Amino acid sequence: MEVSNPDFNQKINITRKLLTKGHVSFKEAKILTGLDDNNFSLLFNKGSKQREKKNILVCGGAGFIGSNFIHYILEKYPDYTVVNYDKLTYASNLQNLSAIENDPRYAFIQGDITDMEKLDQTIKESGITYIINFAAETHVDRSIHGGCKDFVLSNTLGVQMILDAVNANNIEKFVNVSTDEVYGALDLEEEKEFTEDTPVMPNMPYAAAKAGGDLMCNAYYKTHNTPVVVTHCSNNYGPYQFPEKLIPFFLFKLLKGEKVPIYGDGRNVRDWIHVHDHAKALDLLLHKGEPGEVYNIGVDNERSNLEITKTILKVLGKSEDMIEYVKDRPGHDRRYAIDATKIKSLGWEPDYSAKKFEQGLAETLRWYLENKEWAQSVWEKKDEMNKFQESYFKK
Ligand SMILES: NC(=O)c1ccc[n+]([C@@H]2O[C@H](COP(=O)([O-])OP(=O)(O)OC[C@H]3O[C@@H](n4cnc5c(N)ncnc54)[C@H](O)[C@@H]3O)[C@@H](O)[C@H]2O)c1
Repeated sequence: MEVSNPDFNQKINITRKLLTKGHVSFKEAKILTGLDDNNFSLLFNKGSKQREKKNILVCGGAGFIGSNFIHYILEKYPDYTVVNYDKLTYASNLQNLSAIENDPRYAFIQGDITDMEKLDQTIKESGITYIINFAAETHVDRSIHGGCKDFVLSNTLGVQMILDAVNANNIEKFVNVSTDEVYGALDLEEEKEFTEDTPVMPNMPYAAAKAGGDLMCNAYYKTHNTPVVVTHCSNNYGPYQFPEKLIPFFLFKLLKGEKVPIYGDGRNVRDWIHVHDHAKALDLLLHKGEPGEVYNIGVDNERSNLEITKTILKVLGKSEDMIEYVKDRPGHDRRYAIDATKIKSLGWEPDYSAKKFEQGLAETLRWYLENKEWAQSVWEKKDEMNKFQESYFKK
């Protein structure tokens, strides 16, 4: 299913080339595109030649973080265009982008990052300058209980395909979005945080497959000088997250009057970052990140799963009796914590610091409660939600 219009994107690129070569005037170009004055000026930068234009390929843009990133970029850069290239797995949701689906600066193409031919064709036809990759199988429990072949295909092989496409098309910059889970686990008792020099030592198949992609990036930079930047971010919260992940999953269960299942003793700690601040960091790295470098992204906001759950219960006015402790999952990392000094030295600061976490979480929960149409669209996929972990429901 091709939802947005790739033909339109192609028309824009051809028109842009005709304009650049002086084969058509601005007036003729506007007639060719069929755009009104406003949209034509936005796309073709008429009258403000000094404003920079970038055409970004966002792989996996129909997921949680990718769609937040697309909104962030289109809001911040009126002259940028975005092509969202997504396979549309069970975890995707084009509803996340319904507000901009008719924006002439946005196009959607359904495609798999392991499909080299389609990837290459998309890049060529769209005149892509930057690539950012969110496309991945992302659910840890699935990678444990549901087989991990798709994880290796998308998270490792898929990244290698993008790297080949970057080299073949002289892409200016490629950012591969990865996770702090590749570093393995820290102890609850220690003060240590992950730095960019922490050895990669993943404990579950999802993280190992992500690490495979990251290592490919390093190898391509060293052997081919590929302009790639790798990021390791901590747990994200915010709007548009598929409710197989903790915060929206628990919210949905509580709204149905069901108890929420906490793995083990609930003391596992994650460093929670608002997705807005992740998008802000990725924007910076797309423009200013040094090729060949790795950057950690986190806000020093360590919270246990139990603490998160109690905060959700408090915001919803529910009792702590709604908590049910279930058997822990295998390989459950105890603690993640991020040292983000390196990206901060480039000028990045989060808008939702650890001090503003309660506010960010309350806003997020309110977003899920208010966006009923979106909630309905994901509820239709409820059979896909956490279907593999029987352990969630058995002590
Ligand atoms: N969610 C987090 O807390 C978090 C934290 C750190 C890093 N990350 C990383 O950020 C990225 C995005 O995470 P998310 O939570 O938005 O994931 P998500 O599961 O919500 O979205 C993933 C998207 O990728 C698409 N996709 C999967 N395989 C594909 C393929 N082969 N080709 C094209 N598209 C494909 C899916 O259709 C989906 O739209 C992932 O790489 C993840 O490892 C996530």
